[in-house]
Amino acid sequence: MNDLIAAAKSARLKAYAPYSKFLVGAALRDERGQIHGGCNIENAAYPQGWCAETSAIAAMIMSGGKSIAEMAVIGTGDLLCTPCGGCRQKIREFAKGNVKIHMCGEDGNLKQTFTLDELLPASFGPENLA
Ligand code: THU
Repeated sequence: MNDLIAAAKSARLKAYAPYSKFLVGAALRDERGQIHGGCNIENAAYPQGWCAETSAIAAMIMSGGKSIAEMAVIGTGDLLCTPCGGCRQKIREFAKGNVKIHMCGEDGNLKQTFTLDELLPASFGPENLA
């Protein structure tokens, strides 16, 4: 898990968050074992910004990854930075319910681990449309 957390930590330092000043880094391990990082990218037209988790998913898809095996998120400050509602659904598209999502502190210390099912119970996903 340390490589995943290190990737989230370094992604966080690339965040473009001039408005909120709330830097977020995310990293995920795909089904091939490859790690993909992402940061939040804000915009002067505020709603157009997007989250670190979304960036990490985009990086996975662009490199040919198909699914999320494990994920780590690092926000700013002492409170847990859990993925927002929209990101939970985006993660759901590529992850099984038992996939672990680790919330860490800025220094990389593990604070808490949730499964996707815990973060997004009774979720709607691709199987619903199959
Ligand atoms: N943000 C993330 O990137 N991921 C989260 O899990 C929570 C929030 C970003 C969005 C925005 O750029 C900033 O943090 C403040 O909401």
